[in-house]
Amino acid sequence: MAEGGSPIFLIGYRGTGKTTIAQLLAARRGWQWLDADASLESRHGRSIRQIFAEEGEAGFRDKEGALLLELCRLTDHVIATGGGIILRPAHRELLRASGTVVWLTASAATLWQRIQADVTTAERRPNLTGGGLAEVEQLLRFREPLYKECAHLTASTEERTPQGVVEIIEAELNARR
Ligand code: S3P
Repeated sequence: MAEGGSPIFLIGYRGTGKTTIAQLLAARRGWQWLDADASLESRHGRSIRQIFAEEGEAGFRDKEGALLLELCRLTDHVIATGGGIILRPAHRELLRASGTVVWLTASAATLWQRIQADVTTAERRPNLTGGGLAEVEQLLRFREPLYKECAHLTASTEERTPQGVVEIIEAELNARR
């Protein structure tokens, strides 16, 4: 039997559409897809917000890293990661070494609009600093170099349908082969 393909990891800030794109890209390739935050929540029986509240961000990042070690061994999977996965150098190295890393981007204003429109935001997502557009701008300034360092490919999600984003990623993946 042919060997399976190493995983594709989608990285990027909240609201870049990682979960939606993971589903569509996996369907397009005939692969499976997985959302790392949802896997963490079902594994620990708590929402991400609860884990943050009870164990702090460091406790959450430890759990996220432990799960990542397992996800890296999967084949023929598109994996939507949590927006802060790139914060730890060890996670960035692991992602890059284990598969193809695709960074989904959008402007702070667009991301803030999408985050506000998402009804699960308040229930699932902890504020990381003060909240609002200012939080998005501040964290993006800090994180963009980290996403960039980790990514093999970048795809803008501005003014494109999810299917359009998938077409761009697929073309870039094929060009890399
Ligand atoms: C986080 C993003 C969230 C989740 C956690 C922390 C972050 O994932 O992992 O709330 O630090 O940006 P999404 O990007 O799926 O919202």
